[in-house]
Amino acid sequence: MTTTDTNPAGRDTRPPALSAENLVVEFPAGRGRKVHAVSGVGLEVAAGETLGILGESGCGKSTVGRSLIQLPPPDSGTVRLGELTLTGLAPGELRRARARMQIIMQDPVSALNPRRKVKDLVWEGLSIWGSGEDPRDKDDRIDTALRDVGLDPATVRERRPHELSGGQCQRVCIARALLLDPEVLVCDEPVSSLDVSVQAQILNLLETTTRRRGLSMVFIAHDVSVVKNISDRVMVMYLGKVCEVLPSDGMQHEAVHPYTRLLLASLPEAQRGPGPGSAGAPAAPSGPAAELPSPLDPPSGCRFRTRCPLATDRCADEDPSLRDMRPGHRVACHHVEPKRNHA
Ligand SMILES: Nc1ncnc2c1ncn2[C@@H]1O[C@H](COP(=O)(O)OP(=O)(O)OP(=O)(O)O)[C@@H](O)[C@H]1O
Ligand SMILES: [Mg+2]
Repeated sequence: MTTTDTNPAGRDTRPPALSAENLVVEFPAGRGRKVHAVSGVGLEVAAGETLGILGESGCGKSTVGRSLIQLPPPDSGTVRLGELTLTGLAPGELRRARARMQIIMQDPVSALNPRRKVKDLVWEGLSIWGSGEDPRDKDDRIDTALRDVGLDPATVRERRPHELSGGQCQRVCIARALLLDPEVLVCDEPVSSLDVSVQAQILNLLETTTRRRGLSMVFIAHDVSVVKNISDRVMVMYLGKVCEVLPSDGMQHEAVHPYTRLLLASLPEAQRGPGPGSAGAPAAPSGPAAELPSPLDPPSGCRFRTRCPLATDRCADEDPSLRDMRPGHRVACHHVEPKRNHA
């Protein structure tokens, strides 16, 4: 199985805030079959960096996110938080390490216990994950955490989740996560369930908070423009594998993997720019978007080949590994060549 690794050559030599190698997750599907949800995914997130994970529904984004925080751990592969290897840690050590990375989920309402008040929900994280926090300044810390996410403590602290809007619930989830002072935030579709008018506010909150605190973030979503706007780099997944990793700046011109180009082609023209891909690169796949093949029986070789206009016999025989196009840009495709002038 191919290990894919987003390490951008030539970047910071300090250990990344979060890294993963060769993650594999398979779910039993009865009659001896299994869902190949994640097949050899690797990634690195530098301190203060946001890595976006993009791909259509079912490609394994959430499974990668959950593997990163070890809930549950992957079937195989390694996850490191700084220099600490999380995979294989004893339960007590893993529990302590988990406080250093927090996850924000898609549905904030169901992430919150409906019977508890906001003040208790915000403190809940510290009481579960924290170690010997002094409760004397508890009220002040809760109020500061609420203010930090744009909520008025006097208005919301005594309320329960059903007395808040979806956006306010997501702010409570973010406040609860930030109170633990994590190094890494994993956000899995954090705005998908929210009203369009609230989405921009929450994205803005996440962006300013991570920047101010120097937090690293893994931002998972299937909305190309959202991921592109909030991320420093974008990792594109297809059917459990990484097909391209590239800086989000200029992504619409630089993307070369036919699948990334298909995703970019779905953007409105104003956001897309003059056209995806570099000069001389093949066109994006056209025609109606085909269904994702079954992860129970993924195609041999390159998993995208059944939808790819460039597919040849080699694509069925050989799984393309991720290769450097230029620093920070890696692609898994037999049909694209590294840009010599950038090397
Ligand atoms: N607990 C599970 N048991 C069996 N199959 C699962 C389980 N969790 C996920 N899967 C399968 O693993 C694959 C990847 O799922 P995952 O939820 O990671 O996709 P995703 O990219 O997050 O999709 P979405 O954009 O819809 O959230 C899918 O085929 C899914 O059906
Ligand atoms: Mg998901």
